[in-house]
Amino acid sequence: MLLQVLGTAAGGGLPQWNCACPGCTGARTHPHRRRRHASLAVQAGAGRWFLVNATPDIGDQIEDSHALRPGPGPRQTPVAGVLLTDAELDHTLGIARLREAAGFDVLATRPVRHALLERLRLGATLAPYTRVRWNELGAAPQPLAPDGTVTATALPVSAKRPRYAVDLPPDAPGADDWVVALSLRDTTTGRTLLYAPALARWTDTFQQAVEAADCVIVDGTFWDDDEPVRTGISTRTATGMGHLPIAGENGTARRLSRVRARCLYTHLNNTNPLGDPDAPQHRMLRDWGLDIAADRMVIDL
Ligand code: MLT
Ligand code: MN
Ligand code: ZN
Repeated sequence: MLLQVLGTAAGGGLPQWNCACPGCTGARTHPHRRRRHASLAVQAGAGRWFLVNATPDIGDQIEDSHALRPGPGPRQTPVAGVLLTDAELDHTLGIARLREAAGFDVLATRPVRHALLERLRLGATLAPYTRVRWNELGAAPQPLAPDGTVTATALPVSAKRPRYAVDLPPDAPGADDWVVALSLRDTTTGRTLLYAPALARWTDTFQQAVEAADCVIVDGTFWDDDEPVRTGISTRTATGMGHLPIAGENGTARRLSRVRARCLYTHLNNTNPLGDPDAPQHRMLRDWGLDIAADRMVIDL
């Protein structure tokens, strides 16, 4: 199974257009520190790819990746559709940019689809431009490749709704599939990638999926729980914002350092010290046997 990392930054990107914090300023001064919004592409059949989340950077992300470029036909694209981990704007705004396509699939959980259709009105908005096929993503493996060799399964990780949809009634009591981790599996080799750019809780089911995976790409939004408060971007902690931090008591590093899978962090916020390649936190990460995903990284599982 072939995967391409298209971006590794949280909402806003690195640098964020209206931000002059040390992280964003550093990325303007040192262009190699720039990171696009977190996204991934997975190959599902010959010349056929699905994007995992559609970010505001989607046009540049497709253009920059050789495998995703159009051709040989004048309007022929290898992009078959988009898988969504949640309904957050940094993961969904790019859907409208695909409107020049003849059609494409969107795979999302029920509450995510509901938010996109009822609140962002993407169904009605895009209907005059293109044919969007809305498919349900859930606990049963969904075939992505025509021959079923690559599948996607959703693992609920939290009931956190995007700010634009907080007043929508939960789809079911306590519906915890507003945010999911995706398990992408090559059924011929059994190799699996677990992708969780937003992780609010470490459940037993998630632990089992981590143990079964060959590669895990996880929420690295914040280094520690206090970071959003300390840097003045929020009054809530990382956990309060729906992102388990990397370090500390309830941090993900402690758990990931014990698994056999290759573990990479993504969705780095511009306040995260890891955005600076000289930060001492990189050494701590290395000592734990963990790493950070990089934009344009290719993972051949
Ligand atoms: C998040 O990851 O918590 C959200 O994307 C925040 C946002 O960008 O509004
Ligand atoms: Mn986000
Ligand atoms: Zn910033």
